[in-house]
Amino acid sequence: MNANARMEQIVGLCKRRGFLFQSSDIYGGIQGFWDYGPLGVELKRNVREAWWRDMITLHDELGIPAGAPQSFSMVGVESSIIMHPQVWKVSGHYDLFHDFMVDCRECKARFRADHVKSSECPIKPSKHPGEHDKCQLTAPREFNLMFKTIAGALSGEEGTVFLRPETAQGMFVNFKNVCDSSRVKVPFGIAQIGKSFRNEITPRNFTFRSREFEQMEMEFFCHPSESRAWYEYWRDRRYNWYLTHGIKSDNLILRDHTQEELAHYSVGTADVEYAFPFLDAGEYGELEGIAHRGDFDLRSHMEGKLVRQNNELVVEKGEGDAPKYRGSGKDLSYFDDQSRERFIPHVIEPAAGADRATLAFLCEAFHEDEQPDEKGAMQKRTVLKLHPRLAPIKAAIFPLIKKEGMPETAAAIYRDLKSAGIACIYDQQAAIGRRYRRQDEIGTPYCLTIDGDTATDQCVTLRDRDSLEQVRVPIKDIVDEISRRLRA
Ligand code: GAP
Repeated sequence: MNANARMEQIVGLCKRRGFLFQSSDIYGGIQGFWDYGPLGVELKRNVREAWWRDMITLHDELGIPAGAPQSFSMVGVESSIIMHPQVWKVSGHYDLFHDFMVDCRECKARFRADHVKSSECPIKPSKHPGEHDKCQLTAPREFNLMFKTIAGALSGEEGTVFLRPETAQGMFVNFKNVCDSSRVKVPFGIAQIGKSFRNEITPRNFTFRSREFEQMEMEFFCHPSESRAWYEYWRDRRYNWYLTHGIKSDNLILRDHTQEELAHYSVGTADVEYAFPFLDAGEYGELEGIAHRGDFDLRSHMEGKLVRQNNELVVEKGEGDAPKYRGSGKDLSYFDDQSRERFIPHVIEPAAGADRATLAFLCEAFHEDEQPDEKGAMQKRTVLKLHPRLAPIKAAIFPLIKKEGMPETAAAIYRDLKSAGIACIYDQQAAIGRRYRRQDEIGTPYCLTIDGDTATDQCVTLRDRDSLEQVRVPIKDIVDEISRRLRA
């Protein structure tokens, strides 16, 4: 199957089985916005939960995690989407967060300047922009990606605010609040999951480049002399997170940014990239960036917007000698009581996209094979081999037939699993083979069948989605057995 056909099948499955829909579908959709359906919402919740578990819930601050230079604390925040407009001036987004766009005066379409050669002109027959005689492309112009809106009753510039284009600034502006209100000591991290918005000129490739998306970001504050070691620690740990959740190493790379690629604030960045099926062979798309941001962010929010001059960060000057954009003036330095040293922490930032990770897990999980049905005839099967922790439904419970007490036993097992917090469904419709295939297609790792022997041996058949192995499990052990498999 070629890459485009594979992507079309994944997109088709997502719509057919309720993972993802185009936003405002009944009105023809709106470009760059997506809705997660009943199964998609569970899958994405599980992706967020897997990240939060790894960052916060399971983090043991008394021990030293494997590969870490020392022990550290991790806390979370949930900051507002609309922040003080000065945040974006000082962070550089107001002046620098733009793409170059090209408009066509003839068809009014707009393209990202660096995507013209791969974009499609709306005039038929389809060609690239500029290739029709009628095309009238403008010169590339800057276009700020932040969405603007108005807060309160003020109109014009005074009331203008922005939907955040990243969650990161919510952590920087709360650095002092977190230090003052909790007992964290440097090194420590602040994590956040939340929506971000970018007015992408050409949203594309399903949810990969959207205008509204969710980020999972963590800002790790450390002593400048230890920042290189922490950068390497987080870069490797984040790469491994995707592997432990089911992405194969053949499809995942860790790529260091070249000097030209580095963001204005960054002194070193690596990307975790995935071989998405919509890309050509050998190409990879970014899942996450791990950046060494130095003291750029805390210093900016203290002093004002910084620029790099002769390899040094200095406050950018506006009129006269005043800063172009003033910082908060608050002291965001940190005093270490043990070393008696005062310093501005350096920051390591692993910044992941929840939607891109969800899409990568879906693409990786998508498989087609052939399996024998009840009569031994080979049948095509579509299966999502999702990591059990990410699968939207963990177990499906099937009474083999709708009589002889089987539905009652199945309903009791269903309720036991639900009470234990295990997402499961009950299905008594159609032949057992069809029921298995329905679950395989949505990635349910375990199916439990209640059959004619259950009444005598008090056992059910547990079938594994990937190995297709079937074992008999006593009813009284089912919750423990499924929980054990989910923890593995
Ligand atoms: N705070 C740094 C930052 O925001 P970024 O590389 O611009 O860095 C981090 O974004 C992650 O957010 C990306 O690696 C990607 O997973 C996700 N992301 C960024 N733009 C996106 C978009 N338009 N649609 C979907 N996900 C996006």
